[in-house]
Amino acid sequence: MSFDLVLFGGTGDLAWRKLMPALFQAFRHGTLPEGGRIIGVGRDGLTAEQYRAQIRARFDSVELAKRPSAEEFNRFAALLEFVRMDLSKPEDYAHLAQSLAERHADTVVMYVATAPSLFTTVCEQLAAAGLNTPQTRVVLEKPLGHDLASNRAINETVRRVFGEKQIFRIDHYLGKPAVQNLFALRFGNALFEPLWRREHIANIQITIAEELGVEKRGAFYETTGALRDMVQNHALQLLCAIGMEPPINSHADAIRDEKLKVLRSLKPWTAESLSQDVIRGQYSAGTIAGTPVSGYRDETGVNPHSHTETFVALRTEISNWRWAGVPFYIRTGKRLAGRDARIVVNFRPTPHAIFNSQMGMANRLVINLQPKDGLELHLLAQGQDDRRSSSALAPVQLDLDFDKRFGSGRVGAYERLLLDVIDGRLNLFVRSDEQEEAWRWVEPIMDHWKNDAQGPRPYVAGTWGPSASSAMIARDGFCWAEES
Ligand code: BG6
Repeated sequence: MSFDLVLFGGTGDLAWRKLMPALFQAFRHGTLPEGGRIIGVGRDGLTAEQYRAQIRARFDSVELAKRPSAEEFNRFAALLEFVRMDLSKPEDYAHLAQSLAERHADTVVMYVATAPSLFTTVCEQLAAAGLNTPQTRVVLEKPLGHDLASNRAINETVRRVFGEKQIFRIDHYLGKPAVQNLFALRFGNALFEPLWRREHIANIQITIAEELGVEKRGAFYETTGALRDMVQNHALQLLCAIGMEPPINSHADAIRDEKLKVLRSLKPWTAESLSQDVIRGQYSAGTIAGTPVSGYRDETGVNPHSHTETFVALRTEISNWRWAGVPFYIRTGKRLAGRDARIVVNFRPTPHAIFNSQMGMANRLVINLQPKDGLELHLLAQGQDDRRSSSALAPVQLDLDFDKRFGSGRVGAYERLLLDVIDGRLNLFVRSDEQEEAWRWVEPIMDHWKNDAQGPRPYVAGTWGPSASSAMIARDGFCWAEES
């Protein structure tokens, strides 16, 4: 099957950091269908040779095992081309159309990795140039808009040009192997299903912590913030994966229907819950892995009086029969104590204690997404050390390290998602109604913050965020997993 992948934003940060390395990995693994062409689109007047050289140079910062040898790169580079375009000019699309028509590939992927403000222009211009053929698929990167109205406007324009089955809205967290494994754990095994409900689960904690700051994206981040960047999409998608009902089959719409129901069941915000159950923070100067780092307000492109949040912790509930009353905590932030993404499922304690032991870290299932992908089951067991007492139990951990089990060279998120687009599989992409529902739910938080002059609470870089985040969860009688 031949394909042309046109990458709008072909010289952008995402192309260098994620997309090109992912395409190369697929090429190396032999999963990228043969007869493909990757066409980078950008404003600069680069020749194909110069474009390839820039990509080659960028690969030097990729981890060693994923770097191509000279010979491998040359073979990969043969797929790469570059087209200079001004995305507002119809004649440039006509030129692109000509180049695509020459080859007449079976599948054409238009990957729009540009600023979201250009999404509608690109789609309208593609249609005007006759480039919305049935063989075409369009991929839209997040963020799709900055609120419900702008999200709807983009989706409406895109849907006028492409059918829903041609639209691939990316949330790369859905492509992470750990999320696939979560689906496998929940819907491929019957073991946990009877326990997966309010009667047995005390609370669920979703943490996506990063050590990185805003890097070179200060100007973008200033108008985005952690709520729009991480909560509206990645964190809520994880919440859907953990909280959804079993879908009737594994088809895209069956899965999306169930995720949508979770989003629709999220407890609506009240004035009280907005002030007590949502904490926003912003990092100040501190230390990450022994190295001093500056505060957010000192980052390039950031307003020195900025109120943009780099941290969010919140508490919500899924109001349905399975989950009523179970708190779901979401926490994400930049410049935190570690790069650590995980979902912690805390089961209820035994109804009656016969052992003289604290549950502590036991009675818990941890789904690790990053830095390692795996499962941990924490149980209480009789420790070997205590010879005096047979009733002192100690927490032990059953580990399933997927890297060890299946090898560390497994398919990465972007690699998986790019291959799915080329093959036309929509399961791991987000439908417009899911996106709208997620925006509808975060909007009251955005409005609340707009009217709250206090701004985000400062936290020292390299910590777990403002202390108010621990106080929030402590009100329910719980604590974050690392505090137990
Ligand atoms: C992106 C956000 O969607 O996800 C970034 O825009 C964030 O700010 C990134 O750093 C995190 O992704 P990952 O896969 O590194 O956890």
